[in-house]
Amino acid sequence: MNLKIALLPGDGIGPEVIQQAVKVLDAIAEKYTHKFEYTKAAIGAVAIEKTGNPLPNETLQICTNSDAILLGTIADLKYNKNSKATILAEQGLLDLRKSLGLFANIRPLTTYNSLIHNSNLKEKVIKGTDFIIYRELTGGIYFSDKTLSEDGKTASDICKYNINEIDRIAHLAFNAARIRRKKLTLVDKASVLETSRLWRKRISEISKSYPNVKLNFMFADDAAKQLILNPKQFDIILTENLFGDILSDEASVISGSIGLLASASIGEKSALFEPIQNYSPLDKGKNIANPLASILAAAMLLDHFKLYEEAEDIRTAVEKSLELSISTPDLNETNHFSTTSVGNFLCDFILDDENTFYNKNNIDLGQSTII
Ligand code: IPM
Ligand code: MN
Repeated sequence: MNLKIALLPGDGIGPEVIQQAVKVLDAIAEKYTHKFEYTKAAIGAVAIEKTGNPLPNETLQICTNSDAILLGTIADLKYNKNSKATILAEQGLLDLRKSLGLFANIRPLTTYNSLIHNSNLKEKVIKGTDFIIYRELTGGIYFSDKTLSEDGKTASDICKYNINEIDRIAHLAFNAARIRRKKLTLVDKASVLETSRLWRKRISEISKSYPNVKLNFMFADDAAKQLILNPKQFDIILTENLFGDILSDEASVISGSIGLLASASIGEKSALFEPIQNYSPLDKGKNIANPLASILAAAMLLDHFKLYEEAEDIRTAVEKSLELSISTPDLNETNHFSTTSVGNFLCDFILDDENTFYNKNNIDLGQSTII
């Protein structure tokens, strides 16, 4: 298969982790004789520095003309923690999602047996957890009208949804539930919000077309608690933009590191793959950032094009690396490996056959991982 991939490394650790994702994709291309062509473009703080715009026109063009987009991370301290900054790096990502109509953000949460000890939660609570958050990505409070009064003392953000925005993601979520454990939980705050009541009404109607999927409703505050108390109860979580943002960060704690969570943002014509975005400015440039979220995002990209075996190869390699503790400091405090070494190991694992032995000592020396 030939794929044109737009590469948006972004800021902070973005360029480092994207580089590993590309390496792994290249290993897959070599193994299965695919052709992946990459075009790099600027977004976020680097784009502001270059052009004054966090999403330059050229970047949008490159994305529109590609089959898929692979994004690193967005935001630099200079822009996002500085309340006086008039242009925010994050706006680049929001504009990109909106311009390409990437309405469904899909965030899978899997637990790895070898990492269970890494989680702050008890093994018996998290073992076997496996759910996917379907987060609406181009509506709600993120994108509706915002105001700030002239005296700077009053501000507002409107939360608005129409049924088309609800329906299109609902069908994706129900279809996912249908081929999984057949349970869909709509997370909302219908006791307070009119938009939530509209979501409940539509989702109840749509659920009639999916008789095998069990639908239940949960308030967002309860969901925040249930994710920690009993995450195994969830199969598909469907929710609006802001609740999905918050709950997916919370969910990352279950797996042991936010550096593991990948996501796909899907629209009618475009698809973007990215880590769930939690920028760690202190890791930048040190070759210590966890590349797995980015690499697992590349696996989701392959899934999107129905290259299931290839995607599974990446996941198997990732599992192996975790099993052997070939991982970055966030997962492995005492005997950790660099960002590049983790990437090298995964490539070697993908390209080599099953009977290979791995020599961990060679990995950090930048030598082959194979003995
Ligand atoms: C995410 C991020 C973004 C969001 C930021 C960077 C705008 O937190 O992808 O979850 O809030 O959607
Ligand atoms: Mn977020």
